Amino acid sequence: MPDAIRIPILVTGGAGYIGSHACKLLHQAGYRPIVYDNLVYGHRWAVRWGPLEEGDIQDRARLDAVFESHRPAAVMHFAAYCYVGESVKDPGKYYRNNVAGTLTLLEAMRDHGVAPLVFSSTCATYGVPRSERIAEDHSQNPINPYGASKLMVERMLADFDTAYGLRAIALRYFNAAGADPDAEIGEDHDPETHLIPLAIAAAAGIGPGLTVYGTDYDTPDGTCIRDYIHVADLAQAHLRALDALLGGAPSRVYNLGNGQGFSVREVIAATERVTGLTVPVEYGARRAGDPPRLVGDASRIRGELGWVPAYASLDAIIRTAWDWHRGPALERKNGA
Ligand SMILES: NC(=O)c1ccc[n+]([C@@H]2O[C@H](COP(=O)([O-])OP(=O)(O)OC[C@H]3O[C@@H](n4cnc5c(N)ncnc54)[C@H](O)[C@@H]3O)[C@@H](O)[C@H]2O)c1
Repeated sequence: MPDAIRIPILVTGGAGYIGSHACKLLHQAGYRPIVYDNLVYGHRWAVRWGPLEEGDIQDRARLDAVFESHRPAAVMHFAAYCYVGESVKDPGKYYRNNVAGTLTLLEAMRDHGVAPLVFSSTCATYGVPRSERIAEDHSQNPINPYGASKLMVERMLADFDTAYGLRAIALRYFNAAGADPDAEIGEDHDPETHLIPLAIAAAAGIGPGLTVYGTDYDTPDGTCIRDYIHVADLAQAHLRALDALLGGAPSRVYNLGNGQGFSVREVIAATERVTGLTVPVEYGARRAGDPPRLVGDASRIRGELGWVPAYASLDAIIRTAWDWHRGPALERKNGA
């Protein structure tokens, strides 16, 4: 399809892990993703399906220039800092980037007459869960500045809708995992804090041994349980949310998870099954602020937007990550 007839969508943070997967899907669906990223954590090589506009969401003049030249029909907003531990030690960094940066973006959208927004929120807005599976109406009491910064944005979105009609869908993801099924792009964080890439790196001998934080939780095997959602399924949900908003849907909030929990020990066992390698493991103390179990109830988005995750099995999720890490990611690390 020629670029001229594709609908431009501004994708902040589109050079990052989840944003780049959304760009690939946007392109496949006939949109033109315009990546807006300052490359603090993103990668130039991950921008393959549309132009890269280098810029910071806190830079209003740069945003104005990009809105003027591309005239996007909507925005997908992934740009944020997302290290929970760092947010506790340096909260101002998180409030400045995630909250003040988003405010600058929202004001630019308002002034350029761009209404629809799909926003990356997080299950970290819920805090310590009070139920087995967390639904959207669960109380929101974040226990770290990262989660608080995302909750503040959700609040701003509601207020911008009331005042200016800026319609937004906030997607509260659980744990993003896996890689593009074609292994064209994948997860490459530095530092990496996510369990699956750390387990793969440990198994493949390209990273340190894996530390398991806490084996005495009140869970069947004593380790923490999380809900892993494939990055391609996240991208699909973004596309559905975008299509709904462009079709006139009102503002909404949706959970994005598989609804199934897997313990740290189960992730390690699945990594060993998929890779055929052994994950060297050390056992450490619990980390402050890690709830024993975080599992989402995503029935609202399934029912309202018809979203169905394609990757329910942990092995299938890890297999795509493994194909990425042992292929293109390793070649890049080795300078090939
Ligand atoms: N990875 C997860 O499991 C997960 C879970 C819940 C929510 N989220 C949210 O999803 C979004 C994407 O996460 P990710 O894992 O892809 O992270 P990522 O770090 O790979 O991507 C974020 C991107 O935003 C860019 N960025 C950061 N600050 C910016 C700024 N001021 N201006 C322009 N660009 C900026 C970075 O360079 C990076 O490319 C984030 O908002 C995160 O909070 C992620």
